[in-house]
Amino acid sequence: MASQILSNSDEFDLSKRVAVITGAGRGIGRACALQLASVGADIVLTSRTTTELEAVGAEVEALGSKALIVPCDVSEYGACDEVARKAVDVFGRIDVLVNSAGTGAPCTVVDAEPAEWTRVVTLNLVGAFNISHAVLPHMIEAGGGRIIMIGSGHGHSVTGGFSAYGASKAGVSHLMKTLSEEVWAHGIDVNEVIPGPVATKLTEGLVAVGEAPAGLPSERVKLPHEVAELVGWLAQQRIGGPTGQIFSLARRAL
Ligand SMILES: NC(=O)c1ccc[n+]([C@@H]2O[C@H](COP(=O)([O-])OP(=O)(O)OC[C@H]3O[C@@H](n4cnc5c(N)ncnc54)[C@H](OP(=O)(O)O)[C@@H]3O)[C@@H](O)[C@H]2O)c1
Repeated sequence: MASQILSNSDEFDLSKRVAVITGAGRGIGRACALQLASVGADIVLTSRTTTELEAVGAEVEALGSKALIVPCDVSEYGACDEVARKAVDVFGRIDVLVNSAGTGAPCTVVDAEPAEWTRVVTLNLVGAFNISHAVLPHMIEAGGGRIIMIGSGHGHSVTGGFSAYGASKAGVSHLMKTLSEEVWAHGIDVNEVIPGPVATKLTEGLVAVGEAPAGLPSERVKLPHEVAELVGWLAQQRIGGPTGQIFSLARRAL
């Protein structure tokens, strides 16, 4: 089985394939939805805000792909399971998962509000586990797939004051590596993308496009589609392509 999986073959053609995208209502998740739709994938869009998902769904359909909207809080396993089941009911398969749902404001351990600390870690880390666990049986049944975790530089180097966000993203990176070891023999590749600073609602008021954020002079604030281009490239990597790897768009040593 392994030699067959590791043999060279064509790239992972996304036409007639199905991608589940969390955090798809805006920002990086929205850009990933449009990127994968532009190369022919049908898209399952999920986040908590239905109006945002409907707007992105219309954009996906304008690109000629089908869109399925399933609102869900990824912190809840049952909701993630429902996303996977509805995806398979409607489209019959799941080939790609992009895990972009996430949040996190600066907070030190000393000053953190415990419930908020737990919420951030539950959303970013447990949410990544929840949606992966829900989707994986269907991906295995489809004969392979691609999972892309949206990580963060804060998960790889310490910037004071990002205790919950940094810890959760470090956990996401470890989850990515562990999962890649567990599922490569099923033809499923799992990788992480580090965006570097990007202008989205998450960073509203903190960064300006094209400029360096405070304290990170070598960085350049990007637009979401720049991250989505890397996600699209990874999603289309050939069988036997990279897995368990971290791909960074940052401009600082991590
Ligand atoms: N922007 C940056 O500079 C940057 C840098 C590095 C990494 N990242 C990572 O990139 C990812 C996307 O962030 P973004 O910048 O695009 O932020 P964003 O514009 O705020 O988008 C976040 C998305 O996650 C969804 N979400 C939040 N809580 C959720 C929950 N409990 N369940 C399901 N969905 C939820 C949001 O929708 P609802 O609120 O409607 O649920 C939204 O669709 C995050 O994982 C973030 O950590 C961002």
